[in-house]
Amino acid sequence: MEFKIAVLPGDGIGPEISEQGVAVMQAVCEKFGHQVTFQYALCGADAIDKVGDPFPEDTFRTCMAADAVLFSAVGDPKYDNDPTAKVRPEQGLLAMRKQLGLFANIRPVETFDCLVHKSPLKDELVRGADFICIRELTGGMYFGEKYQDNDKAYDTNYYSRPEVERILKVGFEYARRRRRHLTVVDKANVLASSRLWRQIAKEMAPQYPDVDTDFMYVDNAAMRMVQEPKFFDVIVTENTFGDILTDEGSCITGSMGLLPSASTGEHTPVFEPIHGSWPQAKGQNIANPLAQILSVAMLFEYFDLQAEGRLVREAVRASLDANVRTPEIQVEGGGHFGTREVGAWIVDYIKK
Ligand code: IPM
Ligand code: MN
Repeated sequence: MEFKIAVLPGDGIGPEISEQGVAVMQAVCEKFGHQVTFQYALCGADAIDKVGDPFPEDTFRTCMAADAVLFSAVGDPKYDNDPTAKVRPEQGLLAMRKQLGLFANIRPVETFDCLVHKSPLKDELVRGADFICIRELTGGMYFGEKYQDNDKAYDTNYYSRPEVERILKVGFEYARRRRRHLTVVDKANVLASSRLWRQIAKEMAPQYPDVDTDFMYVDNAAMRMVQEPKFFDVIVTENTFGDILTDEGSCITGSMGLLPSASTGEHTPVFEPIHGSWPQAKGQNIANPLAQILSVAMLFEYFDLQAEGRLVREAVRASLDANVRTPEIQVEGGGHFGTREVGAWIVDYIKK
């Protein structure tokens, strides 16, 4: 296959982990005889500083012309503490989602046996937990009508039938390929938008008789996720609930720095780590590149290149087993490996 990849390194540790993701992608492509070219583009605070826009038109065009986007992270503290800032790096992320029509955000919640002890949950609750959250990403309160003055403010949780149908379809189809259990998470006891979701899900469920579909209120789902994470296989939910639940999901594994994600929809899909830009670590060669590298595995799998994806996952697991790990997950007495060393070890493994 011929790949055209748009690379958006962004801010903080973004450029460092991006470099490792690109190297891994290159190595796998060489091994399997794929052609790959990389097109770099600006986003986030870096793009604000350089061209005044967190998702410039040029970047949009580069993404549209690519087969996939390898995204790293955006965000810079100088904007967090400035309520008067007119543009923020995060707006670039939202613009990218909207302009590329990335309505489905796939966030796997997977545990790695060697990191289970880092989970805030008891070992037996979390070991073997393996589910994915499918978060609607271009609708709901994030993008609905907003208003704010000194005395009142609102955000509108707007959803139309086609928006709900297309994301539920993604949910049913993922469930079909996994353990055939779909949990539709909503707040149908209170919210009209949730009642529409539930109604549509009930209409669609008979088309997927092989999938065991259940419904759960979001407050209950948040609780269940810490009480019995192994209950879940595929969760599908609206934008805001998904934002909250996926943070919860990622931290219960104890390996937040290892979790990748995919955003797919109408145009070019985007693959990125779920962690942020960790500005304090910028330039120190200590950031864990594994989530970025695993997002390359998700990229291959998206194009149904299963062997390529498997090799990346195997290389990551081998690096963990060999204790070639960045400091935050290194075992006592283990050697010192930085972002570059971990990336280089994985590239070598792939080439062998
Ligand atoms: C995420 C992030 C974003 C979101 C922020 C940075 C706008 O938290 O990807 O989950 O809220 O969607
Ligand atoms: Mn979030």
